Amino acid sequence: MPISRTRKTRPLPVPAPPQRRRFRRRLLAWYRRHGRDLPWRNTTDPYHILVSEVMLQQTQVDRVLPKYREWLKKYPSLGALAAAPEQEVTDTWYPLGYNIRPQRLQTIARESVSQYGGQLPADEATLRSFKGIGAYTAGAIRSFAFRQRAAILDTNVARVLFRVFVAAGDPKSHAMKRHLWTVSEALVPARHVFDFNQALMDLGAMVCVARHPRCPVCPMAKSCRSFPFSPEKS
Ligand code: ADE
Repeated sequence: MPISRTRKTRPLPVPAPPQRRRFRRRLLAWYRRHGRDLPWRNTTDPYHILVSEVMLQQTQVDRVLPKYREWLKKYPSLGALAAAPEQEVTDTWYPLGYNIRPQRLQTIARESVSQYGGQLPADEATLRSFKGIGAYTAGAIRSFAFRQRAAILDTNVARVLFRVFVAAGDPKSHAMKRHLWTVSEALVPARHVFDFNQALMDLGAMVCVARHPRCPVCPMAKSCRSFPFSPEKS
């Protein structure tokens, strides 16, 4: 075994309850003033949430907006999507790209019709049993559609949590990803889960961006382990 594996490493820090409360309070206050008004934030329909999250996996918000509306007009329910011709579904997705995604969505729709009465299930294990629903999408559906206290972690959220609470080690390693899931789970509040998780994404997309984070306007600057930001620490 390489030496680095046997050497004892310091355990990664999980924020203590007062830090969690402060983070939640600051994030929600910021979101109420600066959060984006997006159509999938005005719904709790699990299917609508699923469509938005699958579209947003590889595509920017601006490009998703018109397609999200068109898609839901054409396929207003899981039943409608399940019954649609496959080629038409693929064509409707165009020009979003990554064409496995519309097929995956239709497979999920068909399974939900054949197994769950045309609804999406609410529990994590069943959601994760669908091909195309991973840990992130399951967390998004549970927190946005079913208001469960479920964490999320995508690239943007991982960057925020790494910078604010860790700021050392390899941000891309598996161990770090596991740790950041633990941090996200510790932070997610019992109430306002919907807004909290949407806010985490907005902070990562609008302020704590990859290359030139906007630290002077960040609500976390005072308690951020990476502040003042320098590129080596990201
Ligand atoms: N990217 C992934 N999910 C998102 C969401 N719900 N809102 C904005 N951007 C996102």
